[in-house]
Amino acid sequence: MMQHIFKQGTNNEKPVLLLLHGTGGNEHDLLSLADIVDPNASVLSVRGNVLENGMPRFFKRLAEGIFDEEDLIFQTNELNAFLDKAAVEYKFDRQNILAIGYSNGANIAASLLFHFEDALKGAILHHPMVPRRGITLPNLTGIHVFIAAGMNDPICPQQESLELLQLLADASASVGVQWVSTGHQLTIVEVEAAKQWYEQIYS
Ligand code: MLT
Repeated sequence: MMQHIFKQGTNNEKPVLLLLHGTGGNEHDLLSLADIVDPNASVLSVRGNVLENGMPRFFKRLAEGIFDEEDLIFQTNELNAFLDKAAVEYKFDRQNILAIGYSNGANIAASLLFHFEDALKGAILHHPMVPRRGITLPNLTGIHVFIAAGMNDPICPQQESLELLQLLADASASVGVQWVSTGHQLTIVEVEAAKQWYEQIYS
């Protein structure tokens, strides 16, 4: 099991919001985002299993922006298996999970999409990177992805955000993007944009 919080929502038709924090965060960090995006949805907020100098993450890295690919794959499988178990334990529909991730959490959410056809039904990715290169993505038809990308993000250049968009679109995901003029930080502007995108699809 991964350390987590589950909050039962008031409307079971809504997607279960899977919250995935950034480096150094924890399962409490993004609870307010879930409240903004959909206060009626159930929430499953998970803490990353890896520690980097005491900072929780979802997978190891060799340096900033350089991922430990073997660990990324291992942890992606672990998270997917955790979702299977959580769906049984909390009695929600395994096919109805929408991830909301920031930075490292957005990267593991993107990795779930890169490796599994049915891990997520959708994802809101705040400042994601390309998790892996050189693999064939599954068919992501019917999966909706929203990306918030910074035009001045020192960790993820515009080119990499465009590459991620293209890879997901080539796999037939339906992708929306919100560019923000800021850097890598999570801003209320993009959370509001994510909410608007979500409402068009899920309400
Ligand atoms: C990562 O390691 O996933 C990215 O560099 C983003 C971060 O967590 O800083």
